[in-house]
Amino acid sequence: MKKYDYLIVGAGLFGSIFAHEAAKRGKKCLVIEKRDHIGGNCYTKNIEGINVHKYGAHIFHTSNKVVWDYIQQFAEFNRFTNSPVARYKDELYSLPFNMLTFNKMWGVITPQEAEAKIKEQIAQENITEPQNLEEQAISLVGRDIYEKLIKGYTEKQWGRKCTELPAFIIKRLPVRYTYDNNYFYDTYQGIPIGGYTGIFERMLEGIEVKLGVDFFAEREMYESLAEKIVFTGMIDEYFGYQFGKLEYRSLKFENQLLEQSNYQGNAVVNYTDGNVPFTRIIEHKHFEFGTQEKTYITREYSKEYAEGDEPYYPINDERNNELYAKYKVLADAKSNVIFGGRLAQYKYFDMHNIIAEVLFCVEKELN
Ligand code: FDA
Repeated sequence: MKKYDYLIVGAGLFGSIFAHEAAKRGKKCLVIEKRDHIGGNCYTKNIEGINVHKYGAHIFHTSNKVVWDYIQQFAEFNRFTNSPVARYKDELYSLPFNMLTFNKMWGVITPQEAEAKIKEQIAQENITEPQNLEEQAISLVGRDIYEKLIKGYTEKQWGRKCTELPAFIIKRLPVRYTYDNNYFYDTYQGIPIGGYTGIFERMLEGIEVKLGVDFFAEREMYESLAEKIVFTGMIDEYFGYQFGKLEYRSLKFENQLLEQSNYQGNAVVNYTDGNVPFTRIIEHKHFEFGTQEKTYITREYSKEYAEGDEPYYPINDERNNELYAKYKVLADAKSNVIFGGRLAQYKYFDMHNIIAEVLFCVEKELN
């Protein structure tokens, strides 16, 4: 008889929900987390009364009522709607592309004029089979929008020229002939009042959590403690990188506390000019309509992943997907380990996707 029913590696969204649901069903759980805090990438830290999203802006959105109802038990959400602004040199544009964007770009007034302008721009280029991301984007929205709002941002994000990126990266570019600048199409959206960390504190209440513990530092000891493991770390690391390393893109965050109450008037401003090195600036207080005297901003840079960096975005190209498939075969053969979450499943998941995933997993495992 082992001491715990479940050892949960990682106190992010997947691990914390699993632990919460297992504990609710009378299972004894131990959560270990290598960082010095819970919450994974959703973690927020209160600095000068502002809830700072330490691992990048996190906006909760979903159309799944079950997921929305589930998360509501841990926090009340505010009415925040993501309406980013794009800055190209000294021009400001509304995102996603909508009537405000088109009016600023060309002075057009009606939806018909905007549609005609975009069609005219697309026709001018005469691209029948896009050979790369640049041609794909131009064939969808025309040259002006591409040059000012897509090119620089995308090149910074990927660290490569748009002409060197495959066309399939952009399948479609939403164009709205309305004044709706709500970035998401989902039914529900908001930011937890008081920040995300409180959600995790409530989920993990009464559960044993050890922070600053890397599973791999004392792997055998931790494995011996529990009947089953829920692993939310990197799948290639779990299997000793035996087939090679999976690749990621990483981010660098540059933070600044400013002695002014309002820096940019919006939570998210994208810098779409290729000459500006960062991709966007987040002004955290605007996620919660903050009225503090100071403000806290984060410049976000996209970067190549190197040893020691945070693995933020999986690069799901052919090479990496094939590699992941090999690890997945090994993972499926391990009946006493559940591999869950963005690192173990090597896939980008939004928070609502993770909640759906873990609830499905709970249903299979615990009901
Ligand atoms: P997560 O990474 O959060 O948790 C895994 C935990 O395991 C980490 O805390 C890690 O330290 C720990 N761990 C790993 N290896 C370990 C080991 N060996 N030993 C011990 N602990 C270990 N979603 C959304 O809905 N809206 C949004 O706006 C955003 N924005 C956003 C911005 C950025 C920059 C990123 C990278 C991601 C988003 N997301 C998002 C996605 C969101 O962050 C994601 O859905 C969840 O954090 C995934 O939760 P997981 O539990 O899978 O991983």
